Amino acid sequence: MSHADEHQGTRRDFLYYATAGAGAVAAGAAVWPLVNQMNPSADVLALASIRVDVSGVAPGSQLTVLWQGKPVFIRARTEAEIAEAREVDPASLPDPLARNENLGGEAVATDENRALDEEGIWLVQMGVCTHLGCVPLGEQGDFGGWFCPCHGSHYDTSGRIRKGPAPANLPVPVAEFVDETTIKLG
Ligand code: FES
Repeated sequence: MSHADEHQGTRRDFLYYATAGAGAVAAGAAVWPLVNQMNPSADVLALASIRVDVSGVAPGSQLTVLWQGKPVFIRARTEAEIAEAREVDPASLPDPLARNENLGGEAVATDENRALDEEGIWLVQMGVCTHLGCVPLGEQGDFGGWFCPCHGSHYDTSGRIRKGPAPANLPVPVAEFVDETTIKLG
């Protein structure tokens, strides 16, 4: 193992403990600088848009990519996840807005207004908790979506905040399919 590899391993271990430490406020705050150090290069960060091959993302799994220095979650949802997300009345949500950059700022938080495709299989969102910026964990929490262990925010299978201190739904960035297996971000 080279010196550089050892270094990477140390960072990964630290990130693991930092994100797994439920309720650890200080650990949560430390996550960001470390994620930033893992970014590949200034060139890559500067790219306004990137293309992501999603051919290997099976239903019920998620790909996390770094884009402009932030994690983006790209999830292929199961039918159950879609159905659960679509049952919810958006008026009953803590944040009733879709927070989807592809739509106007007033769009309501229906699952249809957050999913990338009409069937609702693909959900693309920033992997940054809207409370203080930790990276939420997938397939966890009371609503089966994402859970932020920093201060206990629970997001549903549409990435909408349901419980905890986060004030807003996970933002949906500008994204589109440019062919059957490629999503362009930005
Ligand atoms: S950063 Fe506080 S709950 Fe996510």
